[in-house]
Amino acid sequence: MSIFGRLSRDRLQPLFFFGNNPITLIGSGLTTASAVTLIFYWIVNLMTGRFANPYLGLIFFLGLPGLFVLGLILIPIGMWRRRAVLLRTGQIPPSYPEIRLDNALFRHGVIVVLVATAVNLAIVSIATYQGVTYMDSASFCGTSCHVMKPQWTAYQESPHSHVPCVECHVGAGMSAYVRAKVNGTKQLFEVAFNTYPRPIQAPLSVLRPARATCEKCHTPARFVGDQLLVLTSFGNDKANTSYQTVLVLHVGGIDSLRHLSGIHGAHLNDFTYVATDSTDQKIISVSMPNGHGGTTTFVDQSWKGPVKGITRTMDCMDCHNQATHVFQTPEQALDSVMVNGSPSPSLPYVHKEGLKLIKAKYTSQAQAGTEITAGLENYYRTRYPDVWNTQRALVVGAARTLVTIYDRNVFPSMKVTWGTYPDNIGHMDYPGCFRCHDGNHVSKSGKVISDDCNLCHNLLAVDETNPKVVSDLGLKGNVPAALQ
Ligand code: HEC
Ligand code: HEC
Ligand code: HEC
Ligand code: HEC
Ligand code: HEC
Repeated sequence: MSIFGRLSRDRLQPLFFFGNNPITLIGSGLTTASAVTLIFYWIVNLMTGRFANPYLGLIFFLGLPGLFVLGLILIPIGMWRRRAVLLRTGQIPPSYPEIRLDNALFRHGVIVVLVATAVNLAIVSIATYQGVTYMDSASFCGTSCHVMKPQWTAYQESPHSHVPCVECHVGAGMSAYVRAKVNGTKQLFEVAFNTYPRPIQAPLSVLRPARATCEKCHTPARFVGDQLLVLTSFGNDKANTSYQTVLVLHVGGIDSLRHLSGIHGAHLNDFTYVATDSTDQKIISVSMPNGHGGTTTFVDQSWKGPVKGITRTMDCMDCHNQATHVFQTPEQALDSVMVNGSPSPSLPYVHKEGLKLIKAKYTSQAQAGTEITAGLENYYRTRYPDVWNTQRALVVGAARTLVTIYDRNVFPSMKVTWGTYPDNIGHMDYPGCFRCHDGNHVSKSGKVISDDCNLCHNLLAVDETNPKVVSDLGLKGNVPAALQ
């Protein structure tokens, strides 16, 4: 008997025979139907360009390929069951109904099956690829799941709004990828069963190492030198008086002679620290190489317990933890928009009233929207009717800006409010640099991590009105238009 004959008798004939059952037929139907739908969707996609709606994307990129694979699985299950039933009832025929290769109808059938299988394989691989690419896109990470709303909102306004989430959150290589997906699946269950933490915490220790992340695009060795920082704030007086702080930050780096200097230069040296909380806000011990093969360890003198906790090698994210997800303080948020003219500093007490309104507690962003708007309008209608009558557009605009900055920073549904996420750069609103540079971290030999005000910056002006240095340097960008 020819090889085809034997193949037909031993494999195809039984396959056709057992395949004649509802489960297998449903499976084939599912597979064919999802394949046709997917092909159709790809064609539409190719013609229209991008996938606007992430939920639609979820259906097409994850649901349909899932159905397709389900169909493929059902086909052999149906065959196996029919065979088992027939075996049990003794109905297996001595020989299966013959399928003859010289029968043109059958030959076409075989060719169709082979071609269909090849096409199916291609579809599955493309679908898988697309699914994976889709799951890696910022829009999947940020919008498929409402839980991510705070981080997604902050991300969209950050300097990294074009850097895909996975660049920072998923490492390179297969193991990091699998770890991320396993983690993601766990989180999916937490969301499904409503057991996820609110607010979502941001432990740096679970992020991929910064050297692998940030240094793909940034060169820490690049010498930045000094950087000028001009900060404008407004008072709570009737005139909303503006104040300026001007400082020269010694960012430093590694210069062309390979000298380390300044803020960047100082910490790129395998420092490790021990923190007592998962967000690294309380640092009880810091170790650094001493240049002779050993280490110098600075211990927080106020810490009485054992020096144990989360140990981490210091990297970019210990200072730039908000490089992407920037959450402001109410003062920062309000000052930054007032510099641009809305709320207009010409409205009496707008800074004081605005702060009060955005700092108040609301149960949802919707409620905040209504009450902030009503609150500000009421204030001017009752206290300053002339302002309300002559400058209503400014008041309405101011209310709108207040609602915008509230929605940008506060998410009652996720229990994210002002101050939930600390910013580690600086030291005014959160411990930041002073987690170590507090003058209280001392080594055995009595060396102290310095808190000298001139270590990191020179203060050229602190909360001055119209500081001379601003006009001397011709700085306009951070100065309210009214003062230029
Ligand atoms: C440039 C790097 C970068 C990019 C891009 C980025 N993140 Fe993050 N993300 C971080 C860092 C750093 C933290 C830790 C913040 C902290 O400790 O305060 C973080 C924290 C988070 C957290 C808090 C919980 C956790 O896992 O630590 C979530 C949720 C999150 N990011 C989601 C996203 C989403 C969604 C996107 C894309 C829309 C994204 N991130 C893009 C760097 C990034
Ligand atoms: C895929 C490339 C890419 C990666 C990865 C990346 N960045 Fe950036 N980063 C940029 C670009 C581009 C800008 C400048 C954006 C601009 O000027 O609008 C920037 C800007 C910045 C700035 C300056 C922000 C400002 O306000 O001027 C800081 C700080 C920064 N990145 C830190 C980091 C840190 C920390 C990481 C690692 C967690 C990181 N970046 C990862 C591309 C990247
Ligand atoms: C010890 C804290 C600290 C560490 C660690 C640190 N930075 Fe910075 N970095 C700063 C400060 C402070 C500034 C000044 C700007 C500011 O205050 O926002 C700055 C500025 C920057 C800027 C903007 C500078 C410019 O060119 O305008 C970039 C980009 C940056 N850092 C990237 C990184 C990267 C990448 C790493 C890790 C390799 C890193 N930083 C590590 C504190 C740090
Ligand atoms: C995890 C602890 C830690 C944190 C957080 C930290 N530093 Fe440091 N920093 C150190 C240690 C340790 C040294 C080295 C002290 C020494 O050599 O005596 C140092 C040194 C420095 C130096 C150089 C001092 C010199 O002698 O040249 C500067 C500047 C500096 N830090 C700035 C900053 C700034 C700005 C921040 C916040 C954005 C910051 N550091 C956050 C631990 C820290
Ligand atoms: C370890 C480094 C370091 C030390 C020591 C330090 N600062 Fe700073 N300081 C910073 C950094 C970094 C910023 C900028 C933060 C930012 O990017 O907004 C800053 C910002 C400031 C600002 C402006 C912040 C604002 O929001 O108005 C003032 C004022 C200031 N420092 C005062 C001081 C005084 C006073 C001392 C001495 C007791 C001191 N600093 C010691 C790192 C340091």
